[in-house]
Amino acid sequence: MKHVSSADIRQTYLEFFEKHQHTIVSSSPLIPASDPTLLFTNAGMVPFKDTFLGLEARPYTRATSSQKCLRVSGKHNDFEEVGPSPRHHTFFEMLGNFSFGDYFKAEAIQLAWKLLTEEFQLPVERLWFSVFEGNDQVPADEEAIALWQQVGAPADRILRFGESENFWRMGDTGPCGPCSEIHYYRGDDVRNQQAAGVNSDDPDYMEIWNLVFMQYDSDTHGKLTALPRPSIDTGMGFERIVSVLQNVKNNYDTDIFTPIIKKTIELLGRDEVHYREHFAPYRAVADHSRAMAFLIADGVLPGKNGRAYVLRRILRRAAYQGRTIGFERPFLSEVANTVIEQMGTVYPELQQRRDFILETVDIEERQFLRTLSSGLTRLDTVIEQVTAHKGTVVSGEDAFRLQDTFGFPLDLTQKIASEQQLSVDVAGFEAAMEEQRIQSRDVAHFKQNASVEIWSNQDLPPTSFVGYTYEQSESRVLALVVDDTLVKTASEGQQVQIVLDETPFYAESGGQIGDRGTVVNATGQVQITDTQRPIPGVTVHYGTVQQGEIVIDTVVIAQIDGALRQSIMRSHTATHLLHRALRDVLGEHAAQSGSLVAPDRLRFDFSHMRAVSPEQIQELERRINAWIRADTAIIWENTNYQDAINRGAIALFGEKYTDEVRIVTVGCAASESASSAPSQQCSRELCGGTHVGRTGEIGYFRIIGESSVAAGVRRIEALSGLEAETWVDMQTTTLQDIAARLNIVPSQALERIDGLLAELKNQQQQINALQAQQMRGSLDSLLSHTKQLNDVTYLATRVEVPDATRLREMGDWLRDKLSSGIIVLGTVLKEKPQLMVVVTSDLLAQGYHAGNIVRSLAPIMGGGGGGRPDMAQAGGRNVSKLDEALGQVEKVLIEQGTK
Ligand code: ALA
Repeated sequence: MKHVSSADIRQTYLEFFEKHQHTIVSSSPLIPASDPTLLFTNAGMVPFKDTFLGLEARPYTRATSSQKCLRVSGKHNDFEEVGPSPRHHTFFEMLGNFSFGDYFKAEAIQLAWKLLTEEFQLPVERLWFSVFEGNDQVPADEEAIALWQQVGAPADRILRFGESENFWRMGDTGPCGPCSEIHYYRGDDVRNQQAAGVNSDDPDYMEIWNLVFMQYDSDTHGKLTALPRPSIDTGMGFERIVSVLQNVKNNYDTDIFTPIIKKTIELLGRDEVHYREHFAPYRAVADHSRAMAFLIADGVLPGKNGRAYVLRRILRRAAYQGRTIGFERPFLSEVANTVIEQMGTVYPELQQRRDFILETVDIEERQFLRTLSSGLTRLDTVIEQVTAHKGTVVSGEDAFRLQDTFGFPLDLTQKIASEQQLSVDVAGFEAAMEEQRIQSRDVAHFKQNASVEIWSNQDLPPTSFVGYTYEQSESRVLALVVDDTLVKTASEGQQVQIVLDETPFYAESGGQIGDRGTVVNATGQVQITDTQRPIPGVTVHYGTVQQGEIVIDTVVIAQIDGALRQSIMRSHTATHLLHRALRDVLGEHAAQSGSLVAPDRLRFDFSHMRAVSPEQIQELERRINAWIRADTAIIWENTNYQDAINRGAIALFGEKYTDEVRIVTVGCAASESASSAPSQQCSRELCGGTHVGRTGEIGYFRIIGESSVAAGVRRIEALSGLEAETWVDMQTTTLQDIAARLNIVPSQALERIDGLLAELKNQQQQINALQAQQMRGSLDSLLSHTKQLNDVTYLATRVEVPDATRLREMGDWLRDKLSSGIIVLGTVLKEKPQLMVVVTSDLLAQGYHAGNIVRSLAPIMGGGGGGRPDMAQAGGRNVSKLDEALGQVEKVLIEQGTK
């Protein structure tokens, strides 16, 4: 077989289906858009979930894609397979073809057969097929067996399997159905294949493609409801098919992975032999480097919870594996760079965010290397304790604390524990983690879910939104909910949720808060305080009936609060200007990771590793205000997603985009002067929100805060319009008040304050000098209190000092003055007794020891302490016993001197 590159294989697959009337759809991000049921996109069908469920229409009924996927199983051990196994990955690509109520089983099987045997020219004698054997809800798939035979599959190579192999589910809930898999035998002995090899652990038999006959939607109890139209979802593991077509027995020997592994060998200064001897850590590093680069490109940053924690685990596991093959310095960013070079053409987001990805990887790896040593020390103690008690299990609590406090991942704890023949209580670990999760869970989230539940059980048409153009509409009341129950009438005083057929109210989304206003007719009036879209397409108005009653199926006037909306629009357009300006000033990596658009107030979170400097803030404000003054027009238009992306529109991570999207363009500002001319680009974003007509309407823009939200995420808070003006007024008034108090004009304020600060510093120095002088005066008199014990001079006395530093100074000074002697000073600091003992060096030989003296005296005043032979200090609790302690000095010296 001639060598075909992985890039060609991807292309061949997509073009084959394109030839069969499928639309090529580009990969969605790894973060499923608006789908809280799923941590990561784990299959090609995930972006199409709503289309399968009949909730979202698309302009095509056949699609094909190469989708970025990530699978990290809930069972922690599975992660351990990545590296040792020839075919397991965290990050992978899934090739797929989809039918949304278009073709079904027969055509799916025919297309699959044609691609495998004609296009890829795979030998039929190496292929195996599996179908669902049936259960009490779904019958055995005799149809699929017949169809495989019709296209040419030998009957004895079609096998039946149960639910775990041949019934596919996206997650606990969602679209699902029986499936048929194609397995490939890549062993050497074609004549001696065994049916028992399929779905066994034998690596010679490998599943390469799964055809899912999507027929049901599964609810939380596993109950199946038929989908509106039977559909097709298929998934072919890209890395696996490439290994087959490149005729290697291991995914890591394909051209997808070899450049990454080669780079790792090079960085280590090793060779192929070393790699072959230690292949597992090398491969884990290769797999994980891909996962981290793609995750960070899609907006995930290492952290403590959820997705962020998965990334942290992946990154830390790679760093640790790297150490086992000899890396002593951070190296992962260099490997990740190879991933970017290699995959950046197909997935341009990698190239666009290269610097940010590499910096994030490097920072996290360095941080891990630092915590690794403290975590290892802690783990050693834990392991010692377990073995001392003859135990064999590290407790879940301990493992969780290691993770929570030291960032020490569970799998690492397991690995190190297993080196000492210990296991880890994983159930206990999960319980500890769950407990913490429950404690920090957001209650509001549940409320929202309750509302989702009611509305998703109604058969409501999508609400038509007229609010881009109108502030008012005449609408029909389609549904009413009071106290989580559907009602026909809501009356005065009741809190109500209303669904209308048409509305000017914008439902909260993309950070823009929901509209407020009124819903009125002759029978009653409702004050609307919030608007949300709990399920796709349906707008729900939340409010209180203020007068009369509101009745289902009647016509109402829905009217938004226009002034409020105006200020929300100012703020939303300002957000777009800020986003563009941030990318221009800080770099393209400064992409939005979250935003809140409130009336004339906005909060904008974005990726950036360092604080934004005051000069950069000024530059941002300058550009944005120039843009506002230029009064350029805002234009919106509808187009399809691909066209929008081709035209450079910014799409946001974690946002759900249908194929029909809205682009909002804010025209460029002509630069105001040659010297300050910024090379400002136009702002072009995918956005469903509402905007002002021209930038001039924003009026004014000011940034009032910049802070850190998480590692690598910064937050800017800013004001627009009237709020910005009011804020500046307040600042000015404060400055004027300061000036008035200093009796000067504002422009002199800085100079005057500098003068005052200098004066203050000067005076503080004088105070210090005077205090020192006074102290020395009192020290002279102290010297007259020295006593003799045999031929040793000693001083035991109480002194007044402002702080511990002065006490030490006093001790030093007395030591110098006495040249030979023992000094014991007592004082009270912050209402606690303190002792300080100094022994001159000539007396050490006679057995006097400052630390021991203090150790004998401190207990008298309820304290403890110790220290060096020549200097020691102690604190106590009981002020009234200080003199008693000083009175015991002679006795203690007698005891010590005789030793
Ligand atoms: N969605 C199916 C899978 O992931 C094709 O196997």
